[in-house]
Amino acid sequence: MAMIGNSIEIAKQLLEKGELVAIPTETVYGLAANALNELAVLEIFKVKNRPQFDPLIVHVASIAKARELVEYFPEKAEKLAGHFWPGPLTLLLKKKSIIPDLVTSGLDTVAVRCPDHVMTLALLSELSFPLAAPSANPFGYISPTHPEHVNEQLGDKINYILDGGECHVGIESTIVGFENELPVVYRLGGLSIEKIESVAGQVSVQLNTSSNPKAPGQLKSHYAPKKKLKLGNLDELMQTYGTNRIGVLSFQYKISQIQPENQLTLSASGNLEEAAQRLFACLRALDKKNIDFILAEKVPDTGLGKAINDRLHRAASN
Ligand code: TXA
Ligand code: MG
Repeated sequence: MAMIGNSIEIAKQLLEKGELVAIPTETVYGLAANALNELAVLEIFKVKNRPQFDPLIVHVASIAKARELVEYFPEKAEKLAGHFWPGPLTLLLKKKSIIPDLVTSGLDTVAVRCPDHVMTLALLSELSFPLAAPSANPFGYISPTHPEHVNEQLGDKINYILDGGECHVGIESTIVGFENELPVVYRLGGLSIEKIESVAGQVSVQLNTSSNPKAPGQLKSHYAPKKKLKLGNLDELMQTYGTNRIGVLSFQYKISQIQPENQLTLSASGNLEEAAQRLFACLRALDKKNIDFILAEKVPDTGLGKAINDRLHRAASN
């Protein structure tokens, strides 16, 4: 198993040697390597069992550091980064040639973000290179929001997990690109569309699901537990799947017909931030129960609710 610790120095030394380290961010844990070292980046794809057509996000300590990696910042990208970095926002920008093609899967844009986590920001500011880091889970599975989640699945393949506690946003960053200078959201995530629009004006949303999408992590079946997840009205789902050997993931309320220990609520008070923060840990916990199906309901489709519903839909397509 990997060592779990809070030494930025150990993380730094391993990364400088070209090794992988799991790092905390506010969204989910990342599996990090020197983004400018092709061999180290190749190791990320191997450890995650990730196809090379799915490009990686490059993490930086500041807007100034991001500028070193890209040809230019459209005006609205400047505004968004100014408002929301460090934070759960990834920008797709025209890359400079120092970024290896492996990182971007041959695309001419690079995904960059400045994560909002004190330890990872400290680590980044001590390194002389940016960090490429996808979520630290096997390809297609639920993203990790706790160091133990990483250890369970990748612990035998990496040496060190930098322990930054539980991720406080809990779902991946929102990915925004630019077409003719106008923002386009390619992945819903931890920064709501409403917040983005309050700074950048109206945005369009293009959530691709084809086999060669703009954001390939948006493959339809993604973020999926191993148990079959069924999404819909819980009463109707119980009529179809029964109440025996069933787990339930509801938004606020438990259901009397199902064993209480097989039920989890995302937020008893109906808070969408809390729901997002708990979503992946709840899916993991239900995935471990002795049940045949997970029945889940959608949350209100506003703010972070949109991203939560997106993840639930994808989890239901396995
Ligand atoms: O919150 C996050 O974004 C987390 C933390 C660790 O930063 N990272 C994350 O990485 O979710 P990953 O690899 O699981 O998802 C990255 C997504 C993928 O859907 C990938 O296709 C997309 O970013 N992506 C990366 N570079 C891209 C590019 N140049 N054009 C379009 N999509 C890109
Ligand atoms: Mg991922």
